[in-house]
Amino acid sequence: MKTILVIGGSKGIGASIANRLKDTNHVITISRSLNDVDNITHHSLNVLEDEFPKIDNLDGLVYCPGSINLKSLSRLKIEDFQTDFNINVLGAIRAIKHYEKQLIQSKGSVVLFSTVATHLGMPFHSSIAVSKAAVEGLAKSLAAEYATKIRFNVIAPTVTDTPLASRLLRNEKQQETMRERHPLKQYLDPKEVASLAEYLLSDNTKSISGQIIPMDAGIVSIKL
Ligand SMILES: NC(=O)c1ccc[n+]([C@@H]2O[C@H](COP(=O)([O-])OP(=O)(O)OC[C@H]3O[C@@H](n4cnc5c(N)ncnc54)[C@H](OP(=O)(O)O)[C@@H]3O)[C@@H](O)[C@H]2O)c1
Repeated sequence: MKTILVIGGSKGIGASIANRLKDTNHVITISRSLNDVDNITHHSLNVLEDEFPKIDNLDGLVYCPGSINLKSLSRLKIEDFQTDFNINVLGAIRAIKHYEKQLIQSKGSVVLFSTVATHLGMPFHSSIAVSKAAVEGLAKSLAAEYATKIRFNVIAPTVTDTPLASRLLRNEKQQETMRERHPLKQYLDPKEVASLAEYLLSDNTKSISGQIIPMDAGIVSIKL
């Protein structure tokens, strides 16, 4: 049985991943809020401030905390870029550094999250695009640095129905508009994203590292 740490496992994509894995793996979650779910060991902490818990054996690490801070450049303060960078990039680096030895020991797999906005220029996305481009660079670089030791891959989803995206999917009209924006006429269910994360954590992808995998419902890759 593998031990998988899902950071940000209490809500959204992370909760879907934890639920999907919990019956066949030892799943440990981290978030600021409580996560009282059967078969899951939870630690409540802030990834930017608190000490990570001691875990002796670790086969996989998923880092889910992120942000959607959509504003024009004129409304974005320098502090907004810093805040987005902290939660998307530096929190992930803190976690990877903390569990590096355990992940090397197990030849583990790390899954990080980017966004379609690093591949398609979209207005008001400058701050999140900066941070997620950094996540992609981090994964590519670490995949090389730890080749044969730890695998690093990134999932780059489009809009996904989670608490983070709730302001974009507030009512039926917004949801329909969002579906229509995508060539596949849908946005993402977190369960679909979780199934790709499960695959990347598994031994079925032992040869896959350093990849940025889009889940874009066609918005980047298809023009109708
Ligand atoms: N949803 C989308 O449309 C979408 C699109 C593209 C990319 N993404 C990316 O996909 C990833 C997952 O997104 P999501 O929509 O599932 O996000 P979400 O609904 O906001 O869930 C984020 C999780 O991270 C935890 N978290 C946040 N800040 C934390 C902190 N400082 N310390 C510890 N835990 C923290 C949250 O729990 P607590 O609040 O209890 O701490 C929660 O469990 C993110 O990197 C996001 O940028 C999402």
